[in-house]
Amino acid sequence: MNERILLKARGVGKRYNCTWIFKDVDILIHKGETLGVMGPSGCGKTTLAKILVGLIPCDRGQIYYRDKNITGMTGKKMAKIRPELQLVFQDYRQALPPHLKIGFMLGEPLRVKKQESKKAISEKVLDIIEKCQLGKGTYDKYPNQLSGGEAQRVALARALLVKPKLLILDEVTSGLDIETAEEIFKLIKKMDIDNQMAKILISHDRKLINTYCSTMIIMCGTSNAECDN
Ligand SMILES: Nc1ncnc2c1ncn2[C@@H]1O[C@H](COP(=O)(O)OP(=O)(O)OP(=O)(O)O)[C@@H](O)[C@H]1O
Ligand SMILES: [Mg+2]
Repeated sequence: MNERILLKARGVGKRYNCTWIFKDVDILIHKGETLGVMGPSGCGKTTLAKILVGLIPCDRGQIYYRDKNITGMTGKKMAKIRPELQLVFQDYRQALPPHLKIGFMLGEPLRVKKQESKKAISEKVLDIIEKCQLGKGTYDKYPNQLSGGEAQRVALARALLVKPKLLILDEVTSGLDIETAEEIFKLIKKMDIDNQMAKILISHDRKLINTYCSTMIIMCGTSNAECDN
């Protein structure tokens, strides 16, 4: 596979019960590229994002990450790849565990790796908190003590901390004012030091897609086609 290709999906489909949500999605994304995904509510954009990062399986088609076929990959093999594929959820407030302080929660993926001291991890966490323009006090706050924009930046900090190769942003700016949304995109650009991080931007906002994406796909769903295979 071409070295610049980061992720390739061919003929991907997903069904729930006996209804296909989508049946034949193709995606090709290169290193450093930003791909836009649009489509009406319910056509399966979030579902596709979850499939691409390996959170749920697809029911047809193939997904390749770099030169590996990761379709249906689970266990240790997928655990190794998963940090490289980060999804920031549309419903980011629910994605933050309510009982964990932000600083502790952000340090979790680094603690799991068991490669760094406690001190080094908390320094890294404080650094990302600062880079994401969150006050230092955020470290000791719980998710319910954050504003919408702050919670969104925390969700983004969590994804960026593990230095992903692909970052999927699922309507992350839809609940925010335009200035905050722009700040978030500036921040992502700043964090992507070597311009190698690929991004998938899921949005209903064509202006946003036109501004930040070099290519886009439009999903239209299957009109709830009944499963015949
Ligand atoms: N776990 C599930 N079980 C059954 N149906 C589901 C499940 N998750 C999603 N769906 C259905 O799949 C369809 C696609 O949902 P999805 O959330 O991917 O749409 P979307 O394009 O992201 O919509 P929106 O623009 O509103 O966010 C919807 O009809 C939804 O009800
Ligand atoms: Mg969605």
